[in-house]
Amino acid sequence: MQTAVITGVSRGLGRAIALTLTNHGVRVVGIARPSVELDGLVGEAGPLFTAIAADVADPDAMVRAAASTFAALGHVDLLVHNASTLGPVPLRPTLDITAQQLAQVFAVNVTGPHALTRRIAGAMALRGQGTVVAISSDAAVNAYEEWGPYSAAKASNDHLYRVLAAENPTVRFITVDPGEMDTAMHAAAIPEADVHTLRKPSQVAKALVTLLGHAETGVRYELEVSP
Ligand SMILES: NC(=O)c1ccc[n+]([C@@H]2O[C@H](COP(=O)([O-])OP(=O)(O)OC[C@H]3O[C@@H](n4cnc5c(N)ncnc54)[C@H](OP(=O)(O)O)[C@@H]3O)[C@@H](O)[C@H]2O)c1
Repeated sequence: MQTAVITGVSRGLGRAIALTLTNHGVRVVGIARPSVELDGLVGEAGPLFTAIAADVADPDAMVRAAASTFAALGHVDLLVHNASTLGPVPLRPTLDITAQQLAQVFAVNVTGPHALTRRIAGAMALRGQGTVVAISSDAAVNAYEEWGPYSAAKASNDHLYRVLAAENPTVRFITVDPGEMDTAMHAAAIPEADVHTLRKPSQVAKALVTLLGHAETGVRYELEVSP
């Protein structure tokens, strides 16, 4: 793998994946909304990293991001959809979630990213190779109270990727549950958690790169992390 696009790189797992890949000599395009964290990553990751400031919920912005990506990288070997939102926090009962709030969670997690997938995976299909990963969650398979919008969006991606895999045999589509990590998202969802029990994003990023060495298309993986 020589080129990659990662969404949600300004912090947490996405940032760790971007740094892990550039440390392995991979040229990376990283997407997140404009922030000082994104600017800081540009300096830290070095010349192999290119930032695109964009909102993944906006399909038109994702089409433009795909064009900028091809201009920067030429081709894409790996696309990781990592950017995500929980929706309104504190988390709340699903009947207290408005239709607009539910739609926004799907826009960030499913529909906006699909605009990027279409462009990038379409080019992969023409080349006859490439890997697309959506970061999933155990919430996609467990009915945790108050996690309705996020759970539904993650479950939707899990199945969307099975179908994409069935339709596109030359491109690998997988989803990966990274386990519970010490990140801003986890702190927002479960502020009382003991962070010492949580995985570090850098451990998870390393395990993800290892998984990519042997992962099979159409599969949902629960990531195993070495201590
Ligand atoms: N943390 C956990 O325990 C856990 C467990 C299971 C699954 N996951 C999954 O792991 C992935 C990484 O989560 P994390 O914990 O690292 O989250 P995080 O620390 O909150 O980081 C989320 C990233 O997504 C970006 N993002 C959010 N909304 C965006 C938007 N509209 N457009 C562009 N970028 C956007 C954020 O950047 P900006 O806000 O700066 O744009 C940030 O870089 C997510 O898919 C999450 O669902 C996490």
